[in-house]
Amino acid sequence: MEGYIVDWLSLIGRWVHFVTGVAWIGASLYFVWLDNHLLAPKQNGDADRGVGGELWAVHGGGFYHAQKYRVAPAVLPEHLHWFKWEAYWTWISGMFLMALIYWYGAEIYLIDPDVADLSKPVAIALGIASLIAGWVVYDLLCKSPLGNNQTTLSSVLFVLVSLAAWGLCELFSGRGAYIHFGAMLGTIMVGNVFFVIIPGQSDLVAAKQENREPDPAHGERAKQRSVHNTYFTLPVLFVMVSNHYALTYGHEYNWLILIVVTLAGAAVRVYFVARHFGKASPVPIAVAVVLLLALAIAIAPSPGSAPAQASAKVTFAQVREVVQKRCAGCHARVPTQPGFAAAPKGVAFDTAGEIVAQAAQIHQQTVVTKAMPIGNLTNITDAERALLEAWFSGGANVE
Ligand code: HEC
Repeated sequence: MEGYIVDWLSLIGRWVHFVTGVAWIGASLYFVWLDNHLLAPKQNGDADRGVGGELWAVHGGGFYHAQKYRVAPAVLPEHLHWFKWEAYWTWISGMFLMALIYWYGAEIYLIDPDVADLSKPVAIALGIASLIAGWVVYDLLCKSPLGNNQTTLSSVLFVLVSLAAWGLCELFSGRGAYIHFGAMLGTIMVGNVFFVIIPGQSDLVAAKQENREPDPAHGERAKQRSVHNTYFTLPVLFVMVSNHYALTYGHEYNWLILIVVTLAGAAVRVYFVARHFGKASPVPIAVAVVLLLALAIAIAPSPGSAPAQASAKVTFAQVREVVQKRCAGCHARVPTQPGFAAAPKGVAFDTAGEIVAQAAQIHQQTVVTKAMPIGNLTNITDAERALLEAWFSGGANVE
């Protein structure tokens, strides 16, 4: 029953997280696009009213005319939309999922004794600490003198982010490390909204109401942080989908893969932001494509590494016994492993036919990426992995 309830909470949490994330990132991509497409106002008098740029668009059967003021309009409008709850709810629902899946279920998803034999409380504390430390270090760096030099700041940030990727992969299961990396960047993004961008906007509004000059420092700081958020977006979204791909997080060099994809994601964003201005150099997108291609080639599984002579000795009965002992507690129509209400991902090994039909996936998850058994909860041995490998490379026969 407990597993069943957790499944529902996870489903609802994921749904909310996904929808609010779409709303947040969608609005954020739109406003970056809008800002970068503004043209000088055409109407007489608009510039005198303080309008700095405008944009015409047609969407959903209507014409839209957006105008951006250089600072603020002479009179504040009655209704002013803020765009902040999308970000906050994405973070809240993300933390809910993190707590439910990776902290509550730390033995399964976060801890990998082959990486670091952490106790559950230590693993959770390290996870939480990584999120807080990420924000504190980032915020201090931005506020330090380094923050005045974009290029130096970006380089230092990239080095630190890479160190974090490596460090997390030394502590947690690949899956757990990746998600904490994504959550760390996501927390920084929401921290930027909550601690910098929104307070800056509040000051702008307050200044207007009190008839004083707004502090330009707020605007500059907010701009810097939203630029960072833009470049974090694609890497964070990659991490959110990566847990479906053990070929990334399950690899021996998972930390390096994470760094390469982060770089590629940021490069893609650089290209699109430049394209908004109509003068995009193809270099960043080419860099991203080359990085991803090189990565795909570098981590491709090498064929023929299996011990061919062993395959003759492996019988299906042996394979079935290993699967029964190490996999079927979770991967059965009615799992016996506590916390599992249904066969994960619908993968069940109840019958011989099911085992044979899924031989390639068994090989991929158990031998190539070692993502299974998850967290090695069932203590599979290297000899058993070798046995599965020999069976697969010998043709995955059923006798
Ligand atoms: C403790 C429970 C548990 C055990 C034991 C376990 N698995 Fe899994 N398995 C999971 C979970 C959870 C998922 C879903 C992971 C996800 O959501 O990405 C999964 C997913 C899979 C998938 C689908 C992967 C994909 O991305 O499509 C395969 C194949 C698989 N396991 C094979 C195995 C094999 C083979 C074994 C035994 C050597 C095994 N598992 C042992 C929990 C387990």
